[in-house]
Amino acid sequence: MLKIENLHAEIDGKEILKGLSLEVNAGEIHAIMGPNGAGKSTLGYVLGGRPGYEVTEGSITFNGEDLLEKEPHERAAAGVFLGFQYPVEIPGVSNVQFLRESLNAQRTSRGEKPLSGAEFLKLARAQADALGLQQDMLKRPVNVGFSGGEKKRNEMVQMGIIDPAFAILDETDSGLDIDALRIVGDGINRIMRQPTKAVLLITHYQRLLDYVQPDRVHVLADGRITRSGGPELAHELERQGYAEVAA
Ligand SMILES: Nc1ncnc2c1ncn2[C@@H]1O[C@H](COP(=O)(O)OP(=O)(O)OP(=O)(O)O)[C@@H](O)[C@H]1O
Ligand SMILES: [Mg+2]
Repeated sequence: MLKIENLHAEIDGKEILKGLSLEVNAGEIHAIMGPNGAGKSTLGYVLGGRPGYEVTEGSITFNGEDLLEKEPHERAAAGVFLGFQYPVEIPGVSNVQFLRESLNAQRTSRGEKPLSGAEFLKLARAQADALGLQQDMLKRPVNVGFSGGEKKRNEMVQMGIIDPAFAILDETDSGLDIDALRIVGDGINRIMRQPTKAVLLITHYQRLLDYVQPDRVHVLADGRITRSGGPELAHELERQGYAEVAA
């Protein structure tokens, strides 16, 4: 589904990704772990098409198509979703407006009928309920004044509504309380664990992986994948650290 080959990317003239290769098949969940500053979020931004990140070498194909050629909104329409490490606040735009616009823009570009206000509200309410996000949060401006954990839940509500084919979730577990971790883990499984979908889960800790079992675990260090393995690799890293396992 996703194939990254020898990816080199830089920001402000500084090379961050230095020959990263990774393949994710449909039906799989892959975890990416790695030291602070290794380039994990950069990988997410490059996949999402964030301006300012320049790919200098290598390729990314998504379902056989060149992803790097597409604009960010075209990537979204193709089914790529990026859950941010630091969700952005959008004052003046309500969560419902934002999500309805996003969803309907994507539906339209796929040749599907936009959802009516009533249809959309029903969907949004169901997703908020499933993730334990209070209904009134849907009417508030996007992420403004939300607590850290509420922002992360809100990202998962967005993902539930958008229903993407491929999600990159950047430290979705950070800042979640113990119950929220389980709720979010269940949400990821419910929304994304399907034969036609795939997930890249960026995380620092095993705890989320207790709920969302990865098929593969990779270590990203200094801009490339230095080691890959099964779920046991995450346990090994937690016991021994990066220096021992994947320097
Ligand atoms: N505009 C910039 N100019 C120079 N360096 C930058 C710029 N933006 C990011 N970097 C650097 O890129 C490197 C990779 O950052 P990135 O956010 O991808 O790391 P990460 O693996 O997600 O780390 P963390 O685990 O802390 O989230 C860091 O060293 C960061 O300082
Ligand atoms: Mg990061």
